[in-house]
Amino acid sequence: MFHWQLLTPLLLITVQIYEAQECEKFTKLNVGHAFIGTSLTIRLLLYTRENGTCGSLISHTNISANPQFNLSRPTTFVIHGFRPTGSPPVWMNDMTEQLLARSDINVIVVDWNRGAATSYFNAVKNTKKAGANLTAFIELMQEHGASLSSIHMIGFSLGAHIAGFVGSSLNGSLGRITGLDPAGIMFTHSPPQDRLDSTDAQFVDVLHTDSDSLGFREPLGHIDFYANGGTDQPGCPKTIFSGESYFKCDHQRSVILYIDSMTQTCQSRAYPCSSYKDFLNGKCLECDQFGAAGCPVFGYDVTQWKDTLLKLKQTKTFFTTNAKTPFCMTNYKMDVMIWNKDVHWGYITVKFHYNGTETVATIDHAASEFKKYTETKLLAQFDKDIQKVEKMSLKFSTGNVLKPKYKLRVLRIRLTHLEPEQRPLCRYDVLLEENREVTFRPIPCEVPNF
Ligand SMILES: *[C@@H]1O[C@H](CO)[C@@H](O)[C@H](O)[C@H]1NC(C)=O
Ligand SMILES: *[C@@H]1O[C@H](CO)[C@@H](O)[C@H](O)[C@H]1NC(C)=O
Ligand SMILES: *[C@@H]1O[C@H](CO)[C@@H](O)[C@H](O)[C@H]1NC(C)=O
Ligand SMILES: *[C@@H]1O[C@H](CO)[C@@H](O)[C@H](O)[C@H]1NC(C)=O
Ligand SMILES: *[C@@H]1O[C@H](CO)[C@@H](O)[C@H](O)[C@H]1NC(C)=O
Ligand SMILES: *[C@@H]1O[C@H](CO)[C@@H](O)[C@H](O)[C@H]1NC(C)=O
Repeated sequence: MFHWQLLTPLLLITVQIYEAQECEKFTKLNVGHAFIGTSLTIRLLLYTRENGTCGSLISHTNISANPQFNLSRPTTFVIHGFRPTGSPPVWMNDMTEQLLARSDINVIVVDWNRGAATSYFNAVKNTKKAGANLTAFIELMQEHGASLSSIHMIGFSLGAHIAGFVGSSLNGSLGRITGLDPAGIMFTHSPPQDRLDSTDAQFVDVLHTDSDSLGFREPLGHIDFYANGGTDQPGCPKTIFSGESYFKCDHQRSVILYIDSMTQTCQSRAYPCSSYKDFLNGKCLECDQFGAAGCPVFGYDVTQWKDTLLKLKQTKTFFTTNAKTPFCMTNYKMDVMIWNKDVHWGYITVKFHYNGTETVATIDHAASEFKKYTETKLLAQFDKDIQKVEKMSLKFSTGNVLKPKYKLRVLRIRLTHLEPEQRPLCRYDVLLEENREVTFRPIPCEVPNF
């Protein structure tokens, strides 16, 4: 038997849920829309700390219509890219949430899904129009008392160029533009006025994660970060057989890394260098030009280095990451000197042990040269940080199975944590037989430096 009296409270609850859910959502389309094509519509969704998970639509013409939109606060715009399937970007909520967790600001999600869910060619054509539309809106904000220098635009892919167009229309007065893997296709050979560039805002920071495919290869900002060299990201599929993620994994990693930087789980220092190869070869570990602050830390908080970076005009930097969070790696400079008569080429694997756990650095991007009484400088990157190294292991290999086994006679090896304040670890007189791991306790290094 059905109890009607039970239904009444149920109905009330339903009504309440319905009321509470009066949030504006990002436009949801599907592949069909993208296939037929959509024409540009721009919706501005406001999120604030008062209402962090519930967006409200802001009027393009009447700013005072929304009491939550407080122009005394800084405003951050988040702009997505091409939407080939028409679905809402999966990262948008995370981004909004983290931005609000960090600062009391207005976050405006720029929903141009109608306009982005179409052919790539049309989406590109819409970027200038979207830029003009946002410029008009920001000018209105300015009329109502907002300061341009408190405006930050974060744009992913095509969104980065949209931010650039807005920035140049406002004569570079916006406070900051962050470009997350700015789109490369149809922009790569464009002059600066047709893409993001460093004159578009007072400070422009750019992350590259897929510069050999969907992203932009050349530097575009005051600082450009090339994660893992800026082309292939760890954990992303290497073959087309992995389906859709093959196309977007590297590209989308830029957003994931940036959001991760806001959570401050750990820090990735980025080293100025002319190429990834030189960086991996340990040739770019100097940070003196940044004084006591050290080399810039990738991500949201890079503004701490703004003054130096503006003086330097353009800085290209590199860092490496793990395949998932915590993304940051721990870098050590490693100096090895041998006393074998002959030159040896090979790879070194270092392991640190601590309290039953270990962390490994494999230096195998290229064979390193070891020469009698000559210091070989290497960059050893560990997947996690270990506060107190109890033991370490070393292994030398050449990858050559046919030749006789080598012995590397190490006169001294020194590992220096690249975050200052930690003492270097040394060991003297170690015999490394090829492919045999040797484990020992590191000791304090002798002074003066060798
Ligand atoms: C911007 O786009 C919105 C919606 O697409 C439209 O209502 C508004 O009038 C546009 N603003 C300008 C200045 O074109
Ligand atoms: C949150 O936003 C929704 C939609 O605009 C609105 O109905 C609701 O009153 C807001 N809640 C608060 C606490 O401001
Ligand atoms: C703007 O919105 C406010 C609040 O809803 C309203 O009072 C005002 O008349 C609107 N102004 C215009 C020009 O529409
Ligand atoms: C607007 O924001 C400022 C700065 O956070 C704050 O002092 C002020 O009270 C806010 N105004 C309203 C109406 O919430
Ligand atoms: C940008 O410069 C142009 C030309 O000098 C000027 O007309 C325009 O008002 C300026 N806009 C802003 C936002 O400063
Ligand atoms: C060492 O590891 C054990 C077990 O994983 C853990 O309970 C303990 O807290 C660790 N000690 C330190 C000093 O990290």
